[in-house]
Amino acid sequence: MTSPQLTQNNPIQTDLTLRISNLNVYYGESHILRNVDMSIPSGQMVCLIGRNGVGKTTLLKTIMGLLKPRTGEIFFADKPITKLTPDRRAKMGIGYVPQGREIIPRVSVKDNLLLGLEARPQGRKGNESIPEEIFDLFPVLKTMLSRMGGDLSGGQQQQLAIARALMGKPRLLVLDEPTEGIQPSIILEIEAAVQRIIKATGISVLLVEQHLHFVRQADRYYAMQKGGIVASGNTEDLSQEVIQQFLAV
Ligand SMILES: Nc1ncnc2c1ncn2[C@@H]1O[C@H](COP(=O)(O)OP(=O)(O)O)[C@@H](O)[C@H]1O
Ligand SMILES: [Mg+2]
Repeated sequence: MTSPQLTQNNPIQTDLTLRISNLNVYYGESHILRNVDMSIPSGQMVCLIGRNGVGKTTLLKTIMGLLKPRTGEIFFADKPITKLTPDRRAKMGIGYVPQGREIIPRVSVKDNLLLGLEARPQGRKGNESIPEEIFDLFPVLKTMLSRMGGDLSGGQQQQLAIARALMGKPRLLVLDEPTEGIQPSIILEIEAAVQRIIKATGISVLLVEQHLHFVRQADRYYAMQKGGIVASGNTEDLSQEVIQQFLAV
């Protein structure tokens, strides 16, 4: 049995910045994302804020390759990825935790986790185990490996979704509202886990989030309105005005 590590064995020296330039995305004829420019620098945590329906999930889906932009380019580690399939992007190291978690309800927790191995560059080999680091981050999962994904609480499913993304050893983790609909004590656990992941692996994070406490843990923020980026800066400089305008606090 090989025991895959979460941390990269050979720290990669390349610049893992995600760069988005002049992105325009439509659903049919509705123009959703407008001239979006954004950068997630290597090793940084960046938060995207904005009210419901402004286009945050649309942007994340476009980064993951689930939606095609009409114009614009996306680069990861200096390579254009705009034309790559979602699977290729995952294998380059972009891990995704979708809004609503998308746990497979009638599959065990263990098999939900092992599915995350598909995102490894070499794919799934069939004899891998779940690294202990996953259970250090999310102890509750260890006690639930044989339960069905659908039997877990919302908070547990969210932890499972993050853990599944980590199984692919991402170099950038993209999280879409990981605390939505989750009770406050579990929100704090999820925040702490994300902090530990960053410390342990040095990965970059793109977070869509409504909870100010979590938003403040990011290095930088972008604020979106009507599909466009209308403000950005260091989270330590977040003003009450920006918070009130863009967060449902
Ligand atoms: N599959 C879809 N087809 C058509 N319109 C959609 C679809 N998904 C989302 N939209 C619309 O696109 C806009 C942006 O949605 P979304 O990216 O989900 O916003 P957010 O994540 O910021 O709440 C909304 O007006 C929403 O109604
Ligand atoms: Mg959304």
